[in-house]
Amino acid sequence: MNTRDTLRINQKGHLEIGGMDCTELARQFGTPLYVFDEAYIRRMMRVYQDTINAEYGGHGLVLYASKAFCCEAMYAIAKQEGIGADVVSGGELYTAMQAGFPAEKITMHGNNKLPREIGYALDCGVGTIVLDAYSEADLLEEEASKRGMVQNVLIRINPGVEAHTHAYVQTATPDSKFGFSVADGAAAAFAKYVLQKKHLRLQGFHCHIGSQIFEKHSFVLAVQKALAFMAEVKRTLGFEASVLNMGGGFGIWYTDEDAKLGVEDYRGYLTALISAVKEGCKELGLPLPFINLEPGRSIVGEAGITLYTVGAIKEIPGIRKYLAVDGGMFDNPRYALYQSKYTAVLANRAAETPTEVVAIAGKCCESGDLIGTQFSLPKAKIGDLIAVLSTGAYNYSMASNYNRNFIPAAVLVKDGKAEYIVKPQTYEDLVRNDVIPERLK
Ligand code: LLP
Repeated sequence: MNTRDTLRINQKGHLEIGGMDCTELARQFGTPLYVFDEAYIRRMMRVYQDTINAEYGGHGLVLYASKAFCCEAMYAIAKQEGIGADVVSGGELYTAMQAGFPAEKITMHGNNKLPREIGYALDCGVGTIVLDAYSEADLLEEEASKRGMVQNVLIRINPGVEAHTHAYVQTATPDSKFGFSVADGAAAAFAKYVLQKKHLRLQGFHCHIGSQIFEKHSFVLAVQKALAFMAEVKRTLGFEASVLNMGGGFGIWYTDEDAKLGVEDYRGYLTALISAVKEGCKELGLPLPFINLEPGRSIVGEAGITLYTVGAIKEIPGIRKYLAVDGGMFDNPRYALYQSKYTAVLANRAAETPTEVVAIAGKCCESGDLIGTQFSLPKAKIGDLIAVLSTGAYNYSMASNYNRNFIPAAVLVKDGKAEYIVKPQTYEDLVRNDVIPERLK
């Protein structure tokens, strides 16, 4: 279990999250259910911003990478914590606007922002747009010019740092759809292009080297490469960058194969990164840039669990035992996509010692619909409650209505009380946009 007081086993032997008994959550809200601990989310938002304040004179802003878990309540929390947010689509931006999030604290990403998304971002007045293509620069210039605006922009660079993580979540190797490579001159050429645009104000550069990264050195190396590039554009183009956005990517605990990081460890990542910025700038004669960071997974991942009820149990002698739950790849596609590993607990019998290794299967009509195959649990019965841990990041975000299952509701727990932050879907929701053309009736 994680180390930051989010989870504990109470006297009844039940798992608790944020002071709330999981059996009570299941009774009140049903399963499957996403549950989030508000205190954990706030603690993680604070540790990053506090470190920037303490060690970098507040010359930077944490942007919550809202793709990790996007709903209005998350923007409301980020707003209260005084941090910014990054968005990657018109939909995320709209959600932020609905939550009353300050547009000037939003950075917009995307490797192929649509014309309507660019127009909408300008109309909202987002603080920064990160450019990742010549066509985007042209489109943004045109739209900003129509509106008589000058938009702050960053350029996404690929510093060519390899971070040790799953290939699909790695973004800064030479073969990536993201960013302009610094190594082959593409990034410098694009900077030159952007600097000529009248309605774009280039402020600096962005890079994101991947996700679920534990090696401090990868972040330090990325900073060094980004600063070397900044020095190069200063020399060759006379452009002095004032902003450096280092993206997100800090790893979290899913199973005991991962480190269990405490608040101090995350502070340590940031301290290393900030020191690399200070040292590099000194060495290269660069002014200290305003820094942005975009942590997503580490803010919300371990804050969340998913509760399921055990249904059918199938034992194939000598092969495997499957516990089928009332969720599956429609609420957590990460095993199907990345073979991601998780830890599960029998939430209503959490103090019992695990006695067997089982697979947890979903209810979709697909063999690959698994939450995983290696869960150590006490012998489960129909009706037992399973909590899959560390499901706060990229689970709800990537959920679907596959097989027309409901995307589960989400609740936020604070001081032993839970409230909806995403309401349950209904059958009506599933057919809301369906149309039968007249000729088929
Ligand atoms: N900034 C940018 C530009 C990003 O692309 C990402 C994640 C982040 C920040 C946040 O990174 P984090 O701190 O959460 O690692 N669906 C995958 C994760 C994809 C991450 C994509 N980009 C998963 O389920 O593991």
